Amino acid sequence: MEPTRQAPPKMPPRPVRTLALDIGGTGIKALILSATGKPLTERARVKTPRPATPGAVLNTITEMVNAQGKFDRVSVGFPGVVRRGVTITAPNLDGNWRGYKLADVLSKKLGKPIRVANDADVQGYGAISSQGVELVITLGTGMGSALFVDGRLVPNLEMAHHPFQRGRTYEELLGDKARKKIGKKKWNKRLVRAIRTLEHLFNYDRLYVGGGNAKKIVVKLPSNTRIVENVAGLLGGIALWRD
Ligand code: BGC
Repeated sequence: MEPTRQAPPKMPPRPVRTLALDIGGTGIKALILSATGKPLTERARVKTPRPATPGAVLNTITEMVNAQGKFDRVSVGFPGVVRRGVTITAPNLDGNWRGYKLADVLSKKLGKPIRVANDADVQGYGAISSQGVELVITLGTGMGSALFVDGRLVPNLEMAHHPFQRGRTYEELLGDKARKKIGKKKWNKRLVRAIRTLEHLFNYDRLYVGGGNAKKIVVKLPSNTRIVENVAGLLGGIALWRD
């Protein structure tokens, strides 16, 4: 009698790993996320090259990625307006990002599917509760903003370049340059004024304040405000793959 052949036991498919990248004006951050969005690696951070041209930034990313281990797809938070994988603005990087097909170029370079969104939008996904109107601002080199209604994003909200006081914009008054110029105390006071203005404008249920300079906040903020750890800018990357 022929021995019955047993099929080899089926290995469960390896859970998908997402490489999350957060391109900032000062640093580029990376880590790998599990299928459920939990970090699987330590966050890596390198300085953003200057000038921050597409070529220089992509080379830096490629070097970083090699040290991160295996991944199946990539989420990118980009510090400017992004439409369908194409970067439209990049106020704190370089003029050559206008109309740059970031998703296509990086996908070819890394050989993996890529999704790109504005950095504050990604940070927001990593922070919100998906209930009601939620506004997110990020304080770093620039000022990011993102608006969500019951978890649905209004993409590319650009509060940064709107006038806030005496014709000067939120980013001019609250960005890293301003913080260094006027010092912690004044910057904190300005932030409180900005939050009051935003609250009247958006009438949100909650405000999240993230970005690298959120740790420089020393004042008490209104009770509907939460400070978010900057790693949310990477953790939110998993949301770009929810269809
Ligand atoms: C850009 C935003 C970005 C923010 C934080 C601003 O200058 O216009 O798109 O989210 O900086 O990086």
